[in-house]
Amino acid sequence: MKLERCPSGIPGFDGLCEGGFIRDKSYLISGTSGTGKTIFALQFIVNGALEYNEPGIFIATEERPQNIREYASTFDWDLEKLEDENMIALVDATSTKIGLPSDEKYVDIRPFDTRSLLDQVISIQDEINAKRCVVDSTTAIGFMINDVSKFRIELLKMSTTFEILGLTSLLTCEIVEGSPAISRFGVENFVTEGAIVLRFERSGNVRIRTLEIVKMRGTKHSYKIHPFDITDKGIVVYAEEAIPGF
Ligand SMILES: Nc1ncnc2c1ncn2[C@@H]1O[C@H](COP(=O)(O)OP(=O)(O)OP(=O)(O)O)[C@@H](O)[C@H]1O
Ligand SMILES: [Mg+2]
Repeated sequence: MKLERCPSGIPGFDGLCEGGFIRDKSYLISGTSGTGKTIFALQFIVNGALEYNEPGIFIATEERPQNIREYASTFDWDLEKLEDENMIALVDATSTKIGLPSDEKYVDIRPFDTRSLLDQVISIQDEINAKRCVVDSTTAIGFMINDVSKFRIELLKMSTTFEILGLTSLLTCEIVEGSPAISRFGVENFVTEGAIVLRFERSGNVRIRTLEIVKMRGTKHSYKIHPFDITDKGIVVYAEEAIPGF
């Protein structure tokens, strides 16, 4: 049986995995700092809205939504317009955590509580009937919970709730520079249906960006390490070129 797919909206990516993510499932996007996790996740939401008419929720746990709008504008993604059209909901799950006020429409007021965050997602869902969701990043949540087994359960609660709500979701995850692990706390990749690792590594005197699908349940996916670029339209993955020796 063919499972229904949710196209990523990232040029070059869907061809690597039978047409995209499996609908309603959660995927980990991990990488060290600056590898493009936020851009990947945001592009999934923006192009989901623009190209597939699918509303999306972006939960920002480490950057205030205003910064995200500004960075998005460098790719000519007009988040405010999409927010006005109820195609995107940006959730500020950052300000309260650092003790700052927020005048955002959607604010997570109880930073240590997954339940309150999920309640908020449920009420946003009533408003915009989203099909996609992003949590950027789960690592901030992991540090707040500060207990790996509890964090694993909270992540499972999140991904299962997203699934029940009909949301295909991307959860970003930091990797410590130099670590061979594909997640920060060693549990995130077990909770999700798939894991994609982004890298930005030295090759001679330049750095090359690569993407690897490490896991994708139910999917015949590429085993290669693919180069990608961050262009003025966002991420473009080069499906045909694989990098040897990476
Ligand atoms: N408009 C742009 N055009 C081209 N490249 C860009 C643009 N904006 C950002 N970048 C590149 O993307 C990088 C940041 O990407 P992103 O914010 O998605 O990384 P990240 O993995 O989320 O990092 P962090 O873990 O620190 O949050 C920048 O360091 C820069 O190299
Ligand atoms: Mg980021």
